[in-house]
Amino acid sequence: MAKTRARIAPVSDTRAQQDAIRLWQAGDLVSIPTETVYGLAGDATNPDAIGKIYSTKARPAHNPLICHVASQEMAESLADFDATARLLCTAFWPGPLTLVLPLKTPSLLAPAVTAGLDSVALRMPAQDEIRTLIDRLGRPLAAPSANPSGRLSPTSAHDVFIGLGEEISLILDGGTTDFGIESTIVRVQDGAILVLRPGAISDEDLVAAVGAPLVPHSATDVVAPGMLASHYAPHAPVRLNADTARDDEVLIGFGPGQAALNLSPAGDLKEAAHNLFALLRKADDMIKSSMAGRGIAVAPIPEHGLGAAINDRLRRAAAPRPAERTPQQTHTAHG
Ligand code: TXA
Ligand code: MG
Repeated sequence: MAKTRARIAPVSDTRAQQDAIRLWQAGDLVSIPTETVYGLAGDATNPDAIGKIYSTKARPAHNPLICHVASQEMAESLADFDATARLLCTAFWPGPLTLVLPLKTPSLLAPAVTAGLDSVALRMPAQDEIRTLIDRLGRPLAAPSANPSGRLSPTSAHDVFIGLGEEISLILDGGTTDFGIESTIVRVQDGAILVLRPGAISDEDLVAAVGAPLVPHSATDVVAPGMLASHYAPHAPVRLNADTARDDEVLIGFGPGQAALNLSPAGDLKEAAHNLFALLRKADDMIKSSMAGRGIAVAPIPEHGLGAAINDRLRRAAAPRPAERTPQQTHTAHG
C-alpha cells in the first residue's frame, strides 16, 4: 500500500479536532502538541491503538507509556493516589510532571500501556485544547514522544513530520513547545519523591513546592523498565563539555561566546532546554548536508535546576550507539 503523508493542522482547528477524535475512536494515532514535546497519541484503553504506538515508533515492548488525563477524577479512576501524590498534583498539574502510581485493578487500560507492570505513569498536559480533546474522547490518551525510538524528541509539528510523517495521518500543530524537554517523572516512596527521569520541573522546584525530601540519587540504581543509555541521539557523534570546537565539529554553545549555534547566549537554563533538541537537529542537519563538520561539540552546562535534565539528555545523546553497546548497559525512565 502506498504510504500517506500526514496532514498538519492547527490544534485550534475545529475540523481537525473532530478528525482527531474520530481517528482515536477508530484505534488510530494522532500526534499532539504538549508543553514539553510532541506526543504520538492513541486511546489508552484500545489494545490495537497501543500496538500501533509501539510499532510506529519501533519501541521496545518492555518500555511502558505515559497516560495523559483531562482531570484529577480521570487520574484517580486509573491509579491510587496518596497524600504526597495529591500534593504534587495540586502544585504541578496541569503541567510537565508525570507521576508513577499503583495501577487500580481491574484496569480499563490496555495491558501494553503499562508493559504489564502494576504501576502506571500519569500526567495532565497544560494545553487546554488537549485536555478538552481527552475529555471529549472520554478516555485517557497514551502518548510517548512522537519520534522514532532512540532519536531526538520533536519540539515542533515539522519535527514530527520529518520522523513519522509517513506513518500517521494527522499532526495537530500547537507551535514550538514551551519547555522543549520531556516531563519530569517521579514516584512517591514512603512520603519521599523519587525522580525516575529528570525533566521540565527541576529537583529544586519539586522540593520547594511539596516540602517532601527527594530520595537520594545513590539509592535509585534501577527504578524503571529499562532503556539503553543511548537515547535522544542525533545521527552525528556528540562530544560534551567542549570549550571550543575541533576542526571537524559544529559547536553548540551556552552563555556568551563565539558559537554560531547557542543554547542560550544569556546563560539561561530554561531557554537552553527550550532550544536543546532543535539545535541538536540543526547541527545534525548541517553535518548531514555536509555544510560543516563531522561531529557535534556541546559546551558545558551547569548541573543545577533544569541543567540536570539538559545534561541527562546530552549524556544519552553522547552515549555509545546500539552497534557499539556493551550488554550490561541498562537504564531508567526514558522513552
Ligand atoms: O513530556 C513527556 O513526558 C512526553 C509527552 C508526550 O507527554 N512523553 C514522553 O513519553 O516523554 P516517553 O514514552 O518518551 O517516555 C515515557 C517514559 C518511558 O521511558 C517509560 O519508561 C516511563 O516513562 N514510564 C512509563 N510508565 C512507567 C512506569 N509504570 N514505571 C516507570 N516508568 C514508566
Ligand atoms: Mg521519548
